[in-house]
Amino acid sequence: DIGRTAAKLGTPAYLVGGCVRDLLQNHPAPDTDLAIEGDVRAVAEACTAQLSGMQCTYHPQFGTAILEYPDGFRLDLARCRVEHYPAPAALPEVRPGDIVADLARRDFTINAMAISLDPGSFGDFLDPHGGRMDLQHGLLRVLHPLSFVDDPTRILRGLRFAVRFHLRLEPGTHVLLKTALARDIFARLSGARLWRELKYVLELDDLAGVFEKLDAWQLWPLLRPVPPKSETLLSSMQRGQQEIAWFHRHCPGEKLFDTAVLLTLIWRHIPWAEAEKRLHCWPVTDGHHILRDLQFLSEVSEALAKATRPSAAAQLWASLSLPGILALLAEHPESDAVAESGRHYLLKQRGLKSPLSGRDLQAMGLAPGPQLGKVLRRLYEAHLDGEIEDKETARQWLIR
Ligand code: CTP
Repeated sequence: DIGRTAAKLGTPAYLVGGCVRDLLQNHPAPDTDLAIEGDVRAVAEACTAQLSGMQCTYHPQFGTAILEYPDGFRLDLARCRVEHYPAPAALPEVRPGDIVADLARRDFTINAMAISLDPGSFGDFLDPHGGRMDLQHGLLRVLHPLSFVDDPTRILRGLRFAVRFHLRLEPGTHVLLKTALARDIFARLSGARLWRELKYVLELDDLAGVFEKLDAWQLWPLLRPVPPKSETLLSSMQRGQQEIAWFHRHCPGEKLFDTAVLLTLIWRHIPWAEAEKRLHCWPVTDGHHILRDLQFLSEVSEALAKATRPSAAAQLWASLSLPGILALLAEHPESDAVAESGRHYLLKQRGLKSPLSGRDLQAMGLAPGPQLGKVLRRLYEAHLDGEIEDKETARQWLIR
């Protein structure tokens, strides 16, 4: 229908980018992108007028529109465009173009295919750069020699595609990657743009695939000064993923910044300043908590191994952020005493409140002051140790 509506307005419409690639591989596409050669707003508004319940959001600054169907299906519309990069790693200058130019501005051949929705050529497959063949042969190939220099984020986008679809770099593209790295191209990218892409990489399920590509593409320096020497980091990060899943299962709805767990593990045994240097530039949510955890994790881990009372262990766990706790859990075998105490802390101790408040103690005759604070603290520890359960047992404990 959109193709017909667009044609009536004198402009062809195409299905483009990731959704065509995903269609060819029978993968579900997370979003559906349409490229329009003419006026995006006119097409979006005409579509909205045809179907009741359709929502349209137009973004004039980008010339894009989002159409939401009553059943929740979403279409992203963008004007076909030509891009020009005024300097390496700079944001591109754009101007309108046709579909051929729009495909030529893209990152990889596998993302530079389109399907016509125009009634006159409906279903025609446009693949000027050989994306389908590359997909069949498992190759990731850029469209032109300056692609990574224009936009270094493409290197990390490429890594994601390579991991998700089991692709390897086409040899010429690998040479271009090495050239771009030799030019220290990532140094030109803002911390915000770099971190956004790295975060997507760390969100991939297949961490073994990510490690393989970080090794082969020599990208570890982005994350840490040297590649990990053994499989230990990979397995602790995979355990980290399991701990994150465990946490979400047991504490549904509770906020956790998953990626912080993995970053903590990546930086755990390298000089602190290396993490600090990166977090200084990247806008990582609660980055200062990661840095604090990294300073104390070893100490806390040693003290936990020696802690005999649950209240002492709880105080140690409480000195870490939630991602720090899960990172430490990931370093311990599931059934060891530290891991058990960590889970107990997260599920049972974390939310505990003292059964008697300062007001209760005053009502029992204790004068306000430091002594009362001390009693409150001891009371709370006894509660954490399971010696008291409620107000009544707390009162008996106090009398004793
Ligand atoms: N694109 C590009 N260069 C970039 C970002 C995007 O060429 N730095 C192009 C690619 O052709 C891509 C399209 O814009 O296919 C849409 O980008 P995006 O939605 O980020 O990626 P998808 O390919 O749709 O991948 P995903 O499945 O991860 O959404």
